[in-house]
Amino acid sequence: MGPNALWLVEWLTGALALEPGMRVLDLGCGKALSSIFLAKEFGVRVWAADLWMSPDHNWRRVCEAGVGELVCPIKAEAHALPFAQGYFDAIVSIDSYHYFGTDQMYLAYVTGMLRTGGQIGMVTPGLVQEIEGQAPAHLTQPQSNGKIFWEDELWGFHSPDWWGQLWRRSGKLEGVKTDLLADGWRLWADFERACEAAGKNHFPSDAEAIERDAGRYLGFVRAVGTKVRGECMNYYDPALGAVVGVDR
Ligand SMILES: C[S@@+](CC[C@H](N)C(=O)[O-])C[C@H]1O[C@@H](n2cnc3c(N)ncnc32)[C@H](O)[C@@H]1O
Repeated sequence: MGPNALWLVEWLTGALALEPGMRVLDLGCGKALSSIFLAKEFGVRVWAADLWMSPDHNWRRVCEAGVGELVCPIKAEAHALPFAQGYFDAIVSIDSYHYFGTDQMYLAYVTGMLRTGGQIGMVTPGLVQEIEGQAPAHLTQPQSNGKIFWEDELWGFHSPDWWGQLWRRSGKLEGVKTDLLADGWRLWADFERACEAAGKNHFPSDAEAIERDAGRYLGFVRAVGTKVRGECMNYYDPALGAVVGVDR
């Protein structure tokens, strides 16, 4: 669904240590291509969780890829995950984390489902440098296909330094590392152009704006860390008032 799930998950796994049999949550897995990749390449067991995509369609793709024993598709909202505390050895997220993970409380919540010593890693479209003030004109001008690249939701795009600070301040991780994919903007534009040529774009192409930008602002950010601390309050629990005893 995004640009390009397999390239991005391959890059992410370069910064993780995955062993056969590990339990891995693929959060915001979309069409589960990254989940299939993880199962095939590393022999890990993957819970392929997504909000918008149907687990029925993902299950069909998983079976066609021959990894039905390793991948479990599930419909789940990122703030209401149905997993036990400490269950996963690793949590990964490809081109999705910026939809739900930019608030200070989210990392503490999601790492609740990671065992101590477990790894979390995400790759997301992001920024080379934070934008001060207005979005740059070259990203807000219409492209020749009429599409304007910059939408208000893209303020959820951030730089490696921004993500690094958010994750370090959570107090839940050690060894937090963030970086930028070298020439990521070129890969992003190439993927958009390839989808255009194949007539497979779900939405009008963003290639022109990405090429105009040429890596000044746009790129792909990777963040990884290892869980050091256990429990925390689940601030997304609708029953929190009763849990802490004030809703009486
Ligand atoms: C751009 S798509 C990327 C999908 C896939 N990882 C890929 O790279 O092709 C973003 C995905 O994030 C998922 N997503 C967005 N908000 C979510 C939420 N609150 N909970 C779970 N998944 C969410 C959507 O369902 C969607 O499939």
